[in-house]
Amino acid sequence: MARGEHKIRRCGAEDFDAVRAIINDGAQAYRGVIPADCWHEPYMGRDELAAELADGVEFWGLAEDGALAGVMGIQDRGAVALIRHAYVRTARRRGGIGGELLAHLERATAKPILIGTWAAASWAVRFYEKHGYRLVAPEEKDRLLAAYWRIPARQVETSVVLASPRYFAQDHRGG
Ligand SMILES: CC(C)(COP(=O)(O)OP(=O)(O)OC[C@H]1O[C@@H](n2cnc3c(N)ncnc32)[C@H](O)[C@@H]1OP(=O)(O)O)[C@@H](O)C(=O)NCCC(=O)NCCS
Repeated sequence: MARGEHKIRRCGAEDFDAVRAIINDGAQAYRGVIPADCWHEPYMGRDELAAELADGVEFWGLAEDGALAGVMGIQDRGAVALIRHAYVRTARRRGGIGGELLAHLERATAKPILIGTWAAASWAVRFYEKHGYRLVAPEEKDRLLAAYWRIPARQVETSVVLASPRYFAQDHRGG
């Protein structure tokens, strides 16, 4: 599809509602896919998003003709950087927006990158694999989620972690 002017920019306080709207639109993909007890609507509440920002998640967005079409967060967690909350508007998926945002965030950090997503979100796993990320082993996943994320135990159980080539190049398995 032909695209209008598009650019990637850091999201600010004025984008709060737009970021939340994109997350909640994009998260519709999970409905009926992730375990029912993990689904809630809205998927991202105001307080929850505010807490994520306070916890250091920095959102970047791809704007098409001025309107955000996709967002992706990055969170510095010391030894690693986490990609958090990657969402593209349902109507704009599979047009390269997610890939552009991911490439942008990769250029912004020299650290190994980790991504956690629902195990059932096979499309998301494929998306990251296409960009060179690999699933970590189940026991390593549990360790990483406990070390770097603050998510409920049930979400740990039902999630997978993918890591960038840089992560595998350095040996983190010793902890
Ligand atoms: C995952 C997501 C951010 C990717 O963004 P995108 O703009 O759609 O992705 P791109 O167009 O850059 O890349 C597309 C690639 O991703 C994978 N992919 C994305 N959606 C897919 C789908 N529905 N089915 C299968 N593969 C899919 C494929 O590898 C695809 O490549 P292909 O089109 O050559 O087969 C977006 O699809 C999305 O918001 N999904 C719903 C929410 C979500 O799962 N977020 C991830 C949370 S970590």
